[in-house]
Amino acid sequence: MPDSILNTPAEVKAALKAAPERAKITRVLMASPEHFSVETAINPWMKTKSGRLNKVSPKAAIAQWEALKGAYEKIGIGVEVIEAGGKLPDFCFCANQSFPFLDGHSRPAVILSRMKNESRAPEVPYYERWYSQRGWRIHELPKQVSSFEGMGDAIRHPGKRIIFGGIGPRSAENAWPEVAKISDMPVIPVRLTDARFYHLDTCLACLDASTALWIPEAFDDASRERVKAAFSNLIEVGAKDAANFACNAHCPDGKHVILQQGSAETVAELKKRNFRPIEVDTGEFIKSGGSVFCLKLELP
Ligand code: ARG
Repeated sequence: MPDSILNTPAEVKAALKAAPERAKITRVLMASPEHFSVETAINPWMKTKSGRLNKVSPKAAIAQWEALKGAYEKIGIGVEVIEAGGKLPDFCFCANQSFPFLDGHSRPAVILSRMKNESRAPEVPYYERWYSQRGWRIHELPKQVSSFEGMGDAIRHPGKRIIFGGIGPRSAENAWPEVAKISDMPVIPVRLTDARFYHLDTCLACLDASTALWIPEAFDDASRERVKAAFSNLIEVGAKDAANFACNAHCPDGKHVILQQGSAETVAELKKRNFRPIEVDTGEFIKSGGSVFCLKLELP
């Protein structure tokens, strides 16, 4: 499928024009944080300056998770919950184990992830069971794809049936032609260059069909041009807010933007453009390198 990977800005623009609209999301999946902890440092956020693993407060984490769930419900987004399967410390980051989508005939289908790190691989079967119990069509990637971390790196364009595909620490480049083929959606590949922004959802937050938050320095030159071709209104997030996970925001409805509290500059930029920021505290989860976007999965 030579047209499925959009390499030039012109290809991105043409594909966005031609692609059909995608349905708005009405619900998200969240995963119980019952066993959340920091046990293996698999990203640069999980250790203190002196090199020790961060310590989390289970009680505070559960309260933050409940508040995030409440924030979705308050704006009319349904929240489904998957129970914690085993004692898996990263299980609650449910953006990563799968990529759910509607196929060309609007039937629910899912591509299962192939986790980069051993420590997270056992999470996937629990998600597989969740989907199969509900009758979703389940796809696996061919063996030669070494890693693919679901919606950590596969981010749907807010308006059209097109995917942004992160290539970097967690998802391999050769995943994307396969994802495009299975999902029947073209992919805009973007290469991540900064270890702190190891999933695409840590440096790009799509808000509506023309607007996104991003950290330009987290991409290589060619990828930056592709993102610029896709959005006419890009909000650049500065170093301070970037380090506060501002780009791990989630805008489920083109209006409300749920994000980690304390990113004053980003909040002001959002308000200027008539978005409604909703600030939440995900501080315990940031100790593991994740915030709002990572803690939920968009169900198509
Ligand atoms: N500790 C988890 C990991 O490194 C955090 C995952 C955050 N998820 C995300 N979508 N960025 O895998």
